[in-house]
Amino acid sequence: MDLPPDDARRLRPASRAIHCGEGVDAETRAIRRPIVMANSFRLNDDSETLAESFDWENTHAFNYPRSRHPNARYLEERLAAIEGGEDCVVFASGVAAVGGAFFTLLGTGDHIVSSRICYIGIHGLLVEHLAKRYGVEVTLVDTTDLDAVRAAIRPMTKLVHVETPANPTTLCSDIAAIASLAKTAGALISVDSTFSGMVMQKPLELGADLVMHSLTKYVNGHGDGLGGAVIGRQDLITRIRDAASIHLGATINAVDAWLMMRSCVTLPLRMPRHCDNALRVAHFLEAHPKVHAVRYPGLKSHPQHAVATRQMSGFGGMMNVILKTDPEGVFAFLRSLRVITHAVCLGHAESLVQYYPQEGDRPDLGVLNYPEDIGAGFLRLSVGLEDPEDLIDDLAQALARVP
Ligand SMILES: Cc1ncc(COP(=O)(O)O)c(C=O)c1O
Repeated sequence: MDLPPDDARRLRPASRAIHCGEGVDAETRAIRRPIVMANSFRLNDDSETLAESFDWENTHAFNYPRSRHPNARYLEERLAAIEGGEDCVVFASGVAAVGGAFFTLLGTGDHIVSSRICYIGIHGLLVEHLAKRYGVEVTLVDTTDLDAVRAAIRPMTKLVHVETPANPTTLCSDIAAIASLAKTAGALISVDSTFSGMVMQKPLELGADLVMHSLTKYVNGHGDGLGGAVIGRQDLITRIRDAASIHLGATINAVDAWLMMRSCVTLPLRMPRHCDNALRVAHFLEAHPKVHAVRYPGLKSHPQHAVATRQMSGFGGMMNVILKTDPEGVFAFLRSLRVITHAVCLGHAESLVQYYPQEGDRPDLGVLNYPEDIGAGFLRLSVGLEDPEDLIDDLAQALARVP
């Protein structure tokens, strides 16, 4: 195949994930993009064309890889096409992507409204750095509460940042309603859609200006790469690339960009399986006598099940499980798991579980604590792609060891 980019973008979503950003290598005629391991690119040699080597508008003009390199650019084309945005800029991690957008769009005296429950690294970036050290006013609100969002927005609000479903609580915020509140106030809205696995939720169609992803999670899917992306309107992406890629320099490396590109191919196939498996596991856990509560957007018992049903085409693989036991019981459960691994991260092919111990129950984990939302025995489960019966068997035998 050698579809021109505009034709590739007209394909249906599953085909876009395979063909956008792909092409035949001019030198070898390989039908897979090569990994370009070079930190410098030959410049044009005459006064008429030298400027072309530095033409920012030409996304295939490469000079130095911190600004842009071929594998990053191919990946950006693919991700923009899958998410349905005009353009994309990729970074070395999800935090670098969200941070790059914040540093570009916010300055001293500006105001940001953000989901109070969001990935802890983003929470820390907002509270410890942007607010305390750079003079950005930060208001953290429960974005599942539209009145709270409305009340938090002010004339100086530049950005409303929503994480949905939120990490780790899976709370879901109404993207379309918040986009409308932000627009009325003249603010931009960005959505961290990492938990949706990119294909299960389309924030740009719901009115968001920017979407962020930790590519490390579902997009990578194989647990072997680190990356982040911001996708959205061309003018905003150009600004973020300009300010953040060049001046913060958290550029994805060529190998990780290539791995992400490879992983995108199966993303539209993997996500429905994560969703089906998670629903089966959630039903099993919800009925188990040693489980106090399960929070999964696909369950009717989830507080924002209606919002999730409206704005997601599937509910992803992430859930919270709260066991009826003390910390020792939770550790006994974790030690007994044979298929599911106790590890950070999420969105892998293999199922992962992470325990969020409460203060007093554990060695001090510092900021890793959301006391009002996370009760004792709180686990975050990332349901993988295994046979769901194996996951249920594993959970059942580990729960049997919980006193
Ligand atoms: C919702 C969300 N956003 C951003 C990040 C940060 O991504 P990374 O670890 O790739 O920096 C994470 C990581 O878990 C996340 O869950």
